[in-house]
Amino acid sequence: MKEGDKVVMWFASGNRDEEVFGNPYDFDVTRRDNDHVTFGKGSPHLCLGNLLARTEIRIMFEELIPRLAGVKLTGDVPGCAPTS
Ligand code: HEM
Repeated sequence: MKEGDKVVMWFASGNRDEEVFGNPYDFDVTRRDNDHVTFGKGSPHLCLGNLLARTEIRIMFEELIPRLAGVKLTGDVPGCAPTS
């Protein structure tokens, strides 16, 4: 890149960086070592709404998960273990 070039931040790609994530294409909500860039990286910009967004997402899952207790897979889904 040279001075004056335009660049595009591609956060979705950054969140699939094989050098950062061991299994970047797996949907893994139990991921703990999770250095993602969904809200930017904070230097110089970070999503100013990230705390509100995180709270909304947490509340959404707190409300959603109890309602899914009776949901079961009824057929084979690649990559998913069968439920009993
Ligand atoms: C899941 C929801 C959200 C995602 C994924 C998201 C993601 C992002 C990203 C990637 C940026 C750019 C960061 C950068 O420039 O490096 C950004 C900026 C920003 N976001 Fe969000 N955002 C979310 C929700 C919100 C909410 C709820 C608000 C406000 C109530 C908000 C307010 C802002 C503002 C004001 C900026 C600009 C910050 C700046 O340029 O300094 N965002 N957001």
